[in-house]
Amino acid sequence: MSFSPRDFRDCLGQFTTGVAVVTTRAQDGTKAGITINSFASVSLDPALVLFSVDQRAATHALFAGDATRFCINILSQDQREVSELFSAPGQDGWHNIAYEDDGHGMPRLTGSVAAFSCERHALYEGGDHSIIVGQVKDLVMGETGAPLLYYGGRYRSLAD
Ligand SMILES: Cc1cc2nc3c(=O)[nH]c(=O)nc-3n(C[C@H](O)[C@H](O)[C@H](O)COP(=O)(O)O)c2cc1C
Repeated sequence: MSFSPRDFRDCLGQFTTGVAVVTTRAQDGTKAGITINSFASVSLDPALVLFSVDQRAATHALFAGDATRFCINILSQDQREVSELFSAPGQDGWHNIAYEDDGHGMPRLTGSVAAFSCERHALYEGGDHSIIVGQVKDLVMGETGAPLLYYGGRYRSLAD
C-alpha cells in the first residue's frame, strides 16, 4: 500500500458530507443511535438508502442483528450537539434529546432536516464495516436550507 491510514482518512475528509444519526429500538425497547456520515442514496424504485457501521461500534450488533427497523435522521446545523452525543463512545445521549415516534416504533429526532423510516433490505460485509441497505417506508421533510456538514474532520455550515 502506498499510503498510510492517516493519508486515507485525510483524503476521505475531502469529500463533504451531511451528518445523520441512525436511531433504532432494541426488542426490549431500549433506544440506540449512532452518528454517521456514510449515508448514501441507492435506488429510487424501490426507494433504497445505505449507511455503513463499524464492526467495533457498540451499536453494530444491533444494526446487523435484531434492529431491522431504523430511522435515519439528517441533522440540521443546530444539531451539532446531537451529533456529538451520538458519536461519543459509550454514550447514552437520550437524556436531553427531543424525539417522537416515527409511526413505526422508532425514535425520530425533532428538528432534523429530513428523516427516513426504513426497514432493513440487505446487509453486506464491507471490510471492517457492515453496509446496511434500508428500504424507505416513510419520510418526513423538515425545514430545508440549513444542514449540518462535515468536511476535513470538522463540522461546517452552508455559506452560499
Ligand atoms: C461526523 C461523524 C461521522 C461518522 N460516521 C460514521 C459512520 O458512517 N459509520 C460508523 O460506524 N461510525 C461513524 N462515526 C463514528 C461513530 O459515531 C462513533 O464511533 C461511535 O458512535 C462510537 O461510539 P460506540 O463505539 O459506543 O458506538 C462518525 C462520527 C462522526 C463524528
